[in-house]
Amino acid sequence: MKAIDFGPDFKWGVSSSSFQTEGAYQTDDKGISIWDLFSGVPGKINGNKKAHISCDFYNRYIQDLILMNYMNIKNFRFSISWPRIFPEGFGKVNEKGLDFYDRLIDYSLEMDIDPWVTLYHWDLPQALEDKGGWTNRSVIHWFSKYVETCIKKFGDRVQNWMILNEPLVFTGAGYFLGIHAPGKKGMSPFLQAVHHAVLCQSMGGRIAKSWNGKLNIGTTFSTSHIEPLSKHILNVNAAEKVDALVNRLFLEPLLGLGYPTRDLPFLNTIEKYVQPGDEQLMVFPMDFIGVQNYTREIVRHTSFVPYINARIVKAEKRNVPKTAMQWEIYPKAMYHILKKYATYPQIKNLIVTENGAAFNDELENDKVNDLARINFLKSYLAEVKKAKQEGAPVRGYFVWCFTDNFEWTEGLSKRFGLVHVDFATQKRTIKASGGWYRNFLTTAKMSEAQKMTG
Ligand code: FCB
Repeated sequence: MKAIDFGPDFKWGVSSSSFQTEGAYQTDDKGISIWDLFSGVPGKINGNKKAHISCDFYNRYIQDLILMNYMNIKNFRFSISWPRIFPEGFGKVNEKGLDFYDRLIDYSLEMDIDPWVTLYHWDLPQALEDKGGWTNRSVIHWFSKYVETCIKKFGDRVQNWMILNEPLVFTGAGYFLGIHAPGKKGMSPFLQAVHHAVLCQSMGGRIAKSWNGKLNIGTTFSTSHIEPLSKHILNVNAAEKVDALVNRLFLEPLLGLGYPTRDLPFLNTIEKYVQPGDEQLMVFPMDFIGVQNYTREIVRHTSFVPYINARIVKAEKRNVPKTAMQWEIYPKAMYHILKKYATYPQIKNLIVTENGAAFNDELENDKVNDLARINFLKSYLAEVKKAKQEGAPVRGYFVWCFTDNFEWTEGLSKRFGLVHVDFATQKRTIKASGGWYRNFLTTAKMSEAQKMTG
């Protein structure tokens, strides 16, 4: 398998996010984010680690971009930290924050790397959370101002934008289960956050396009291939509900299909928060949908879980290959989800904006021999290729992640990078998987060079 097999225009890249990589959490007048606060609460993060430094991308972006260029990587997905731009969430802009992204974008372009910018990757300004955060309908107004500021400032150089990263995760884990920032729990905060995020994802798209209709606008979703534990009707129904929750809740309103209330009747309560005109406002024709896939889930019926009467049968209980996250390694999940999304006629383009794996990497003699990660990436890529050959409109693939970083509640304990980071010294070491990706991408680079020279 070669990169060029995916076509000459296929976008190959790596992904990252601001909170997970930048560190510098108070530098240059940055405001505090909900994750800065949450990760300071004892017991929330593995080892009580904080992301105050993480892999120090804020101060080391130049060397990281040089490394990226050396690895033949042409597309870099990162996010803008909202509290760097608006320390208070809205109102006064922090010029120093804008400056950082100005330099980062300019240097990427200088390194011949195309920036792909996510506007919201979970680091809400804490000042806004103090006002209710995603549960407050004013978030639409705050978010609009933030998006407008970023698009106007960087839209001359950044062609590719993603509005939200995985809204189900930040609303579900953050406002229903309370295991992610801001740690809220319950159905009401969840449904409010869901509806407001759905409105923000389309609103963000509209703002970007009205500024410049030629920008390439998308948004990303966490996806999983869902299968019932058995063919028993109760398990089949349970799997359908989980599928609606995981793969359709945020996508379908965007496509004009409304909330999947038939499969998830508890969603009818969301009506309480829906205002006249919202149904239309939720819809927006994205240029691309970002698919983020790592695994599949096996689901069984249970009457003990309210609302969905379903539970996930964990990979640990199934005697299957797993990553260090305890996620099942199941490459076919990627194929199934791409094929599933390809059946929606409203979807024009799909881009795999995240895929990758954490393993217990060992640094020995300046080398990380992470063969498991190479096998993981190869096997998932083979499924991307298959889905593409069968007509799914897949236009790109981004590995999560470029360097090891702060993996949310797992702290610094889970390494996803193609590049190893020694968190004590900040030394970078390209892992075997990074070397493999570099070689793999040479054919794509050669074809690009050919295009340029005719
Ligand atoms: C995704 C997140 C990303 C990273 C990977 C492992 O859910 O978008 O930030 O943590 O998982």
